[in-house]
Amino acid sequence: MNKIEKNQKIGEIVTLLPKAGIIFKKYQIDFCCGGHRLLSNAIEEQNLNEKEILDQLNQAYFEFTQRPEEMTPSSATITELIDLYIMPHHSFTKQILPEISALAGTILKVHGIHHKELFTIHKLVKNLETELEQHLIKEEEFLFPAIKEYEKNPSDEQSNRVREQIEEIEAEHDAAGDLLKELRQRTNQYQVPQDGCSTYEKTFEKIKELESDLFDHIHLENNILFPKFERQE
Ligand SMILES: [Fe+2]
Ligand SMILES: [Fe+2]
Repeated sequence: MNKIEKNQKIGEIVTLLPKAGIIFKKYQIDFCCGGHRLLSNAIEEQNLNEKEILDQLNQAYFEFTQRPEEMTPSSATITELIDLYIMPHHSFTKQILPEISALAGTILKVHGIHHKELFTIHKLVKNLETELEQHLIKEEEFLFPAIKEYEKNPSDEQSNRVREQIEEIEAEHDAAGDLLKELRQRTNQYQVPQDGCSTYEKTFEKIKELESDLFDHIHLENNILFPKFERQE
């Protein structure tokens, strides 16, 4: 019997089946900030092949159920989820952001005269860099310690503190998602122009890597960590 249905929420599907994230990326279905939508809505809006997607999801689900029990983000405790699953995404983001930022500056210098869109792309990259740098600090220094503290010593006061921060963090996830969408648009889906050099290609490749990683990263926070906190309350 099929386990994944089109009337399920996209974020819930990835929570149940982590590999669904790979399938959704292939079809550019937003599962982190758009995780609250039904799969059927995304299929309809993006004019995708419903059967093809459901077959792949259910095949992956079948394979997943054949495997012996192992820890997944959903079965982990809050502390395990943060330390083992989310923090590696933070390290990756901190490593790749300065690289992308420097590359965007380089291609602007070399190709900006013929490709005016590179000025906008450069600005978007810089904005994303600043936004994410501050965002990671907020999570690592304030939100994550507060959630871990609540896991150990739950109190109404601590719960309110966490709640307020989550609201702000979720808004920042949406903002980062919007910046990435705009980058996708301005780069014409990351298509390197005919006269683009290998640095041009590398820049777009790196932004795509960051986009893909951020999808997984935000999904873990929006769809797994925050609901886990809410269930504890
Ligand atoms: Fe994060
Ligand atoms: Fe985040």
